[in-house]
Amino acid sequence: MKAVAVLPGKAGSVHLAEVSEPRVADVPNGRGVLVKILRVGVDGTDKEINAAEYGAAPDGCNYLIIGHESFGRVEDVGPNVTEFKPGDYVALTVRRPGSSLYDQIGTYDMTTDDTYFERGINLRHGFLTEYVVDEPEYIIRVPGNLKEVGVLMEPMSVAQKAIEQAYRIQQRLRVWRPRRAAVLGASTLGLLSSLVLRLRGIEVTTFGNTMPPFLNSRLLEELGVRYVSTKEMSLTDASAKYGPFDLILEGTGYSPLVFEAMNVLAKNGVLAMVSVTGGSRQLEVPADKINLGFVLGNKVAFGSVNANREYFETGVKDLSTAELQYPGWLKRLLTHPVKGLENYEEIIRLLTDSKGSIKVYCEVAAIEGEQTAAAVG
Ligand code: BGC
Ligand code: ZN
Repeated sequence: MKAVAVLPGKAGSVHLAEVSEPRVADVPNGRGVLVKILRVGVDGTDKEINAAEYGAAPDGCNYLIIGHESFGRVEDVGPNVTEFKPGDYVALTVRRPGSSLYDQIGTYDMTTDDTYFERGINLRHGFLTEYVVDEPEYIIRVPGNLKEVGVLMEPMSVAQKAIEQAYRIQQRLRVWRPRRAAVLGASTLGLLSSLVLRLRGIEVTTFGNTMPPFLNSRLLEELGVRYVSTKEMSLTDASAKYGPFDLILEGTGYSPLVFEAMNVLAKNGVLAMVSVTGGSRQLEVPADKINLGFVLGNKVAFGSVNANREYFETGVKDLSTAELQYPGWLKRLLTHPVKGLENYEEIIRLLTDSKGSIKVYCEVAAIEGEQTAAAVG
């Protein structure tokens, strides 16, 4: 079968590979679930992997199949799988457990191991291929009515984790009634995070570089979110006007904003950092002022990466609620479909030249495709 792969360490090495098809029996104890991949989303991480700035191949392999935002349909299951049946729509989690205590209890997204395993990113093959096999533990059912937007499951899970963790951290306060939130970044993750916060009834201000109006700012306005372009107003000025923000989620990839956010965060507030910044930027910051504000204001800042199945499951709930509350909204995030794995060059091109795009994704196979004999029987 076909797969889109890179040679980690070699920039621009993305290519179409011919690999052997996985089988249900590849997973021990009759627990294999074979998934036919339908759609795979791509993001900045894939771009970095192809630029040889990130990512590693599985042990004993010189290539890495990329793609970590999956959506597919169960094709076949092993004899000891009761959780799924052929025909079920599903998404797979990205990380696989290492050995720390956190990995052992299903929270592999909280691993303290130095090495982490992520399908399509680090040491494990990903989903930009025709079929994948895995254990039920790493597979989440997506209701049929969400099949058109199921490819948003993975970025949604990342937003869910950051926001849920913020709420749990805030249980340190006997009562926390967040009124205003700021989301820094207005692409897929920023849009989904803004949505999740709106579903929790919070007044949201979302920041991006681009001058409005454009698709992202219009989508936000439809949720009742205020969009601010940092070209017109800085976070600091916007905070004076529309804040203070009880929760700030930083997801732009521009790390200096973290420190500006720390400076304007409300008393008792919480700052979630979700940008994976591979660079080595240096910065001068008003250290005393930020420190004083944190101490006197009892503020918290924390980092959040990846997501375990819990957050995929709450993601399903919020995607369903969003479909009811804002019908058709999610689908409009899917701006740039690319048909077929063989058009991998176009996928990478759209990622690099991302003007006007929100989610670039590959239509690996038709959602309403013919089911195979295995799926029907
Ligand atoms: C993925 C996460 C992953 C992170 C770090 C992101 O692009 O969506 O699942 O944990 O990269 O590798
Ligand atoms: Zn990602």
